[in-house]
Amino acid sequence: MWAVLPLLCAGAWLVGPPACDAAELAVSSLEKFHFKSWMVQHQKKYSSEEYHHRLQVFVSNWRKINAHNAGNHTFKMGLNEFSDMSFAEFKRKYLWSEPQNCSATKGNYLRGTGPYPPSMDWRKKGNFVSPVKNQGGCGSCWTFSTTGALESAVAIATGNLLSLAEQQLVDCAQNFNNHGCQGGLPSQAFEYIRYNRGIMGEDTYPYKGKDDDCKFQPSKAIAFVKDVVNITMNDEASMVEAVGLHNPVSFAFEVTNDFLLYRKGIYSSPFCHKTPDKVNHAVLAVGYGEENGTPYWIVKNSWGTRWGMNGYFLIERGKNMCGLAACASYPIPLV
Ligand SMILES: *[C@@H]1O[C@H](CO)[C@@H](O)[C@H](O)[C@H]1NC(C)=O
Ligand SMILES: *[C@@H]1O[C@H](CO)[C@@H](O)[C@H](O)[C@H]1NC(C)=O
Ligand SMILES: *[C@@H]1O[C@H](CO)[C@@H](O)[C@H](O)[C@H]1NC(C)=O
Repeated sequence: MWAVLPLLCAGAWLVGPPACDAAELAVSSLEKFHFKSWMVQHQKKYSSEEYHHRLQVFVSNWRKINAHNAGNHTFKMGLNEFSDMSFAEFKRKYLWSEPQNCSATKGNYLRGTGPYPPSMDWRKKGNFVSPVKNQGGCGSCWTFSTTGALESAVAIATGNLLSLAEQQLVDCAQNFNNHGCQGGLPSQAFEYIRYNRGIMGEDTYPYKGKDDDCKFQPSKAIAFVKDVVNITMNDEASMVEAVGLHNPVSFAFEVTNDFLLYRKGIYSSPFCHKTPDKVNHAVLAVGYGEENGTPYWIVKNSWGTRWGMNGYFLIERGKNMCGLAACASYPIPLV
């Protein structure tokens, strides 16, 4: 236990003044009541010392949510299963620990001259988008973004919606600059699948959410990549065309504290950066639209169906919000 303490901001209460949060919050009985209801809803159990610390974190999040929702914003915040975690703690478990080579994703997408639809939602066009999955406490978002894009590409090409193996990418894609639970990039994962005789299904290579040895069996591969299309950095208009005409698109962006508390509406943030070195999470754009003059992307996340809007979120489009146009790509399946 002592060995991990210096790393754990959440554990700092054991050894003196908390390192992350400043002063101890005075918690009201109503706030305690909300915390207990939340604990029941999310089946949380703590030791009595941990309870005290989690209560503090929860109340701090709860106050942020209420203050945000009282303001005039394009999105609402809400409680979710992460509401007893500080952002520092969440970041360590779920996001990339170091910058990925996002700027190595060199664009080869050729933008057309024809029209594309004013709005798009691949979920409504047919059976083209697999159900939302849950990465758990592993920085493997990039594998879910990758499988999501390839699952859709295969479904669009063949009518057959598969569920592909994230764990294979966690365990086996290291030679393409991917790092299992420590991060990776969809463009590099597509390259891996392209050169490694395909990817197996979720059923034959189940998800574990931790690093393990590679157990890929070529004879069991069910999806293959013929080519990888990278969209040129910061070319969000090409991303729109690609999603509108061709396929859902994998992209990376920077998750900040306010995103973690997202509940619904169009996410937009003055806090996140727009540069490729700051992106720390990968997801899948499955559509786009516009509401009251604000254009948005429809995005599939990998934090389970209880986060956001049934596992999805909307994010403002056209401003390279949080660096979302820094490294986007999609695969062409071999069918
Ligand atoms: C809320 O913000 C919108 C867009 O910035 C603005 O048009 C509207 O007037 C604001 N409403 C209030 C009540 O401040
Ligand atoms: C970025 O690319 C360089 C050169 O290929 C490589 O050595 C390095 O490990 C990569 N970094 C990450 C985080 O993948
Ligand atoms: C797409 O990006 C990946 C790395 O992110 C790179 O290995 C690959 O060569 C790129 N493809 C093209 C056609 O530039």
